[in-house]
Amino acid sequence: MAKIRVGIVYGGRSVEHEVSIASATSILQALDPSRYEVQLIAISKEGRWHLGGPDLLPEAVLEAPEVTLPAIPGERRLVSVDGGQPAGEVDVIVPIVHGTGGEDGSLQGFLELAGVPYVGAGVLGSAIQMDKEVTKRLLAAEGLPVVPGTCVRASQLRADSRGCCERVISELGLPLFVKPAGLGSSVGISKVASVAELLPALEEAARYDAKILVEHGVDARELEIAVLGNDEPEASVPGEIVPHAEFYDYEAKYVAESTELLVPAPVSDALAARMRELAIRAYRLLEGQGMARVDFFLDRETDELWLNEVNSLPGFTEVSMYPRLWQASGLSYPALLDRLIELALERAQRDQSLERSYRLG
Ligand SMILES: Nc1ncnc2c1ncn2[C@@H]1O[C@H](COP(=O)(O)OP(=O)(O)O)[C@@H](O)[C@H]1O
Ligand SMILES: [Mg+2]
Repeated sequence: MAKIRVGIVYGGRSVEHEVSIASATSILQALDPSRYEVQLIAISKEGRWHLGGPDLLPEAVLEAPEVTLPAIPGERRLVSVDGGQPAGEVDVIVPIVHGTGGEDGSLQGFLELAGVPYVGAGVLGSAIQMDKEVTKRLLAAEGLPVVPGTCVRASQLRADSRGCCERVISELGLPLFVKPAGLGSSVGISKVASVAELLPALEEAARYDAKILVEHGVDARELEIAVLGNDEPEASVPGEIVPHAEFYDYEAKYVAESTELLVPAPVSDALAARMRELAIRAYRLLEGQGMARVDFFLDRETDELWLNEVNSLPGFTEVSMYPRLWQASGLSYPALLDRLIELALERAQRDQSLERSYRLG
């Protein structure tokens, strides 16, 4: 059988550039060379694409020749930027670019236009899951448990900051969490313990996004479930994050070595089953395809379980939570990659069979 030509697209313009390179390195090492012909496509911090072979280190590809992917459906061919010469062909792309421009649907839309199958959620699912405020509205509308929250627009804040603060405090009380609606990695997020801290927190979040989500702060354990599949998604065992910080902030995620990942999480079978059920419902509701990591809060006082967020592109190094949850559920890291590529090809085939035009009669 001919090898499947896989392009790993990684790097990108967000603060998670380095994390993405680490994920690409793990993926490259795990893809079976007898089944796949791998190409590395590194996106620089300036947003330029560079192409290199699997013999290069992923970070070195940033120095390799620059290419582009023309939006010519069906060609699946990368061409060099100077001269437009063919530079490589791919059958499927593994996009592992986190944050804005990577997991928010824009890269997915670009790949749709180019007609290249890709791993993970499509345009709509990616865009919804990236937006914490839309996510919350959709989950709440279906009666799924979410922490009470409210939306503040940066424009409202500029027009009447005092009124915004009063409304937030009267609706949600204290403590609060203030977050830019469309970011990840805890960037721009603050915990607010007093009224005086609210305005600076809103202003900080408004630096990153025109829309801000404010939530009641819960004292909670942080539990996560991995979901895999297209129309028949499956859920893993749960895991737990123990940040050893005030909350799971940027430093606890990427710098502090004290953050613990417990896999599986020490929870009862009944709670694990409820989490799996909620995770799959949330995944379907938020147009999940391929994969997502579904994050929960378990209130330490009341034992209430809340859905926090769904991540269409979870951290993907071999020691990241998402692959570890599958490992603990009986699916190794290489087998997980095989499955994700299979799901991407299945989805592309399904979409290809759809009618694109309508003929009367
Ligand atoms: N309502 C909340 N109550 C308590 N802690 C919260 C709340 N919202 C967020 N946090 C803390 O902030 C972290 C990051 O928030 P999250 O909404 O998951 O954003 P991100 O997409 O950046 O991961 C969470 O993992 C948790 O530690
Ligand atoms: Mg999170």
